[in-house]
Amino acid sequence: MGPMPYADVHARSVDDPEGFWKEAASAVTWYQQPERALDSDRPPFYQWFPGGELNTCYNALDRHVEAGHGDRLALVYDSPVTGTCRRHTYAALLDQVARFAGVLRDSGVSKGDRVVIYMPMVPEAVVAMLACARLGAVHSVVFGGFAPKELALRLDDARPKVVVSASCGIEPNRIVPYKPMLDAALELSGHAPDRCVILQREQERAELREGRDVDWDAAMAAAEPAACVPVAATDPLYILYTSGTTGKPKGVVRDNGGHAVALLWSMRNVYDARPGEVFWTASDVGWVVGHSYIVYGPLLLGATTVLYEGKPVGTPDAGAYWRVVSEHGVKTLFTAPTAIRAIRRDDPSAALMEKYDISSLRALFLAGERLDPDTYEWTAEKLGIPVIDHWWQTETGWAIAGNLRGLDPMPVKPGSPTVPVPGYDVRVLTPLGEPCGPGEEGAICVRLPLPPGTLQTLWADDERYIASYLSAFPGYYLTGDGGYLDEDGYLFVMGRTDDVINVAGHRLSAGAMEAALATHPAVAECAVIGVADHLKGQIPRGFVVLKNGVTTDHDTLRVELIARVREQVGAVAALKRVDVVAGLPKTRSGKILRKTMRGIAEGADEPVPSTIEDASVLDALRSTLSG
Ligand code: COA
Ligand code: AMP
Repeated sequence: MGPMPYADVHARSVDDPEGFWKEAASAVTWYQQPERALDSDRPPFYQWFPGGELNTCYNALDRHVEAGHGDRLALVYDSPVTGTCRRHTYAALLDQVARFAGVLRDSGVSKGDRVVIYMPMVPEAVVAMLACARLGAVHSVVFGGFAPKELALRLDDARPKVVVSASCGIEPNRIVPYKPMLDAALELSGHAPDRCVILQREQERAELREGRDVDWDAAMAAAEPAACVPVAATDPLYILYTSGTTGKPKGVVRDNGGHAVALLWSMRNVYDARPGEVFWTASDVGWVVGHSYIVYGPLLLGATTVLYEGKPVGTPDAGAYWRVVSEHGVKTLFTAPTAIRAIRRDDPSAALMEKYDISSLRALFLAGERLDPDTYEWTAEKLGIPVIDHWWQTETGWAIAGNLRGLDPMPVKPGSPTVPVPGYDVRVLTPLGEPCGPGEEGAICVRLPLPPGTLQTLWADDERYIASYLSAFPGYYLTGDGGYLDEDGYLFVMGRTDDVINVAGHRLSAGAMEAALATHPAVAECAVIGVADHLKGQIPRGFVVLKNGVTTDHDTLRVELIARVREQVGAVAALKRVDVVAGLPKTRSGKILRKTMRGIAEGADEPVPSTIEDASVLDALRSTLSG
């Protein structure tokens, strides 16, 4: 029998989600089989696999070892920034994880407790995540590029019993001292964890605080391994904070059962991956892409994952990705379009690609930001293998739209992530909630229920979950992206319709950067917008209006303002330009006209909006920006 056509599989997934996902659930090893696939007794809250009991770590590690695959490589740590490469078999990784689970248990962590992980791209970050899963504890990984204030917000919200961190991270141009940032965050935070476990790296050791901090190696040496704790399918596995419109991050909650089922389904059907193959996601464990496809997806499947501590360029050159592919026999590579644009900038003819044997590579997957057709064409031509754009978000945890390599691959339309993935009933709606016609742009929504593996709620904030995602169009999940479906059912994602900025595939909040600018005593009001950038997709740009009587020269002010954003949001915000302007364009009700500002900053011939309060502000803005 040949493969099922995409359209039939998709139709079945939305017409009979119960049957579809029950079948998919058989790929997971359960302690207790779920009674049914979908619990829809409490809309708009839906839960997957009620009554089911499992352990995600058991599914990711133990069961592969029990099946005789203990010698298979689970994780290859390739770190050009430290000049090391370490290989961990499934048996070795299991041993580390069980022992670190012992460390956490001895620190008082049990089922339901939170653990914040603030670490660079080292194997210990993966060990810590899986150790939490082993105990039924809830991890919350915070990306290393965030500043203490952002970390403090997450500590306050998640209230972890233990924090796991490292002495430092390593960027190509500098050592990033993580531990002092953690200490600063704990000073700012109203919450005190019982213990901090610190991995000492030789590049820069950290000072440990008596009574609170313990050394990773010492704790591991003293620990007894801990067994897997069965949890309900609906129990939380992790919280991952993501940027919303305001400065307060949203704590996306992922369950155990739906997550394992969905990721396993996606590994085979979206990525066409098989156990034993090498799967490399070049991202960071601090982002959702890292959670799903560096850690959980490949390990649940029994594949080998690559953990790469380096950059696409500069570590040491634009051939770095091709070196990793050839050295480890990577079959599937997943990264962000920005990384490819950076490689292309440094090596436009792809001469460095020729240096390596990359014949193991079967497909390249890209996500995190829009894949522009030009980058798509270059990559597809140079690599000569399928290049697959797929669209998703922290909230969904796996692809909403993609080209299903393992199911029924379709012809590519550059600029489109292809079609809705089975499980997602994607609709494009007008502001009144009517369906848009083919080619008509509107709000991209997903009809409820969302499939397994997607967010259950926001941590300790059901109301914000409903207000942010479910109230705009009752019965639908609002993705926050705008776009259209064409006459062939291909989806085109045109960008965010809110104030979320996407810089180099990193999701950042305009509100958080504005809050940082507003702390400067000279600033009366400000706005941050994302403008198009040929390398990073978007870059943030700040605009400030000064208080009356401020005499500081503007160059000094700009330097101070940029430093504030770096200090308060983090280096990753990469705000490099702030302009002092006479006024911000606003509507008569006081709303900043960001779209208009963005158009002007990008040099477009922006029409004057009819709602504008004072049109003369626009002329002043235009002349500042062209000056
Ligand atoms: N910890 C601490 N700081 C970090 C960090 C981390 N984990 N990651 C990035 N930073 C810092 C960088 O050092 C840099 O600081 P600087 O201003 O002192 O130079 C700043 O944050 C911006 O970093 P980055 O976004 O990496 O920009 P860049 O200009 O240094 O490099 C690229 C450009 C294209 C090479 C880089 O953006 C890249 O690798 N992009 C791919 C992104 C990606 O994989 N995203 C995954 C989402 S799926
Ligand atoms: P994050 O939650 O950090 O993964 O960011 C999700 C956002 O990134 C989405 O809402 C989109 O705006 C954008 N995004 C991710 N992948 C794509 C893609 N393939 N095409 C267009 N936009 C994307």
